[in-house]
Amino acid sequence: MTTDPTSADTGPPEDAPSGGATNARDARRSAQALAFDRIGARYDEAFPHKQEQLAAGEWLAARLEPGSRVLDVGCGTGMPTARQLVDAGLRVTGIDISAGMLDLARAAVPEASFHQADVMDLDETWGHFDGVVAFFSLLMLPRRQIMAALRLLHGLLTPAGLLMLAMVEADLDDVELPFLGSPVRLTGYPHDQLRAVVEATGFEVVEQRHRTYAPEHEDTPAETQQFLYCRRGTQAAPNRSSIT
Ligand SMILES: C[S@@+](CC[C@H](N)C(=O)[O-])C[C@H]1O[C@@H](n2cnc3c(N)ncnc32)[C@H](O)[C@@H]1O
Repeated sequence: MTTDPTSADTGPPEDAPSGGATNARDARRSAQALAFDRIGARYDEAFPHKQEQLAAGEWLAARLEPGSRVLDVGCGTGMPTARQLVDAGLRVTGIDISAGMLDLARAAVPEASFHQADVMDLDETWGHFDGVVAFFSLLMLPRRQIMAALRLLHGLLTPAGLLMLAMVEADLDDVELPFLGSPVRLTGYPHDQLRAVVEATGFEVVEQRHRTYAPEHEDTPAETQQFLYCRRGTQAAPNRSSIT
């Protein structure tokens, strides 16, 4: 485990153009998607109270014009966030790697558009977004992919775009843990390191909030949730070599 929050980005990318690495990434993604296919609606049962998440959605909606485009990364069941943002008059595109979660999201929020996609595969063909929400989804990636994903999301935002990010506070990089009865690989940062990572990828952190949450499931302990309210910033996202 490194103590420099940004140094996890200095190794070769897991998705380098070698067949072995690509297969490893595909296998990892399939295992994570399968876990969430199994978890399905139990996710919302285990996390029924999402006041902080709703507060973050409200903050975002209050700053965007009606009809603005918002990307919901790892949208899960679409509840409560895609539902909340659609109800606020925003145009929501949700992505998730789990077909099961997407089925639930399409049923819960038929007004939004949902796609089975990995955040790491997003590119400019998706167009630009006025806001991005990534609530508890980037923590499913290894640290070096989290940095790459943040840079990628920075590039998909309009110049005044906003990013709402939620993670769980922990000092972990891609560790397999039981989560609601299924093994998943999870990553986290101490709160000061998370802020440094977000800033290193070109965002300005406007506000950072924490709260303790006790999920309603015996294998998932109480956690400290971190919410970062971010602006895209005027600088281009630094490239890999400038983050050391
Ligand atoms: C913990 S759930 C959070 C769901 C929702 N954002 C919420 O807060 O209620 C994480 C979601 O991220 C999805 N996910 C995991 N890795 C992903 C990836 N690489 N790209 C897109 N979605 C991913 C999972 O399938 C799961 O639905």
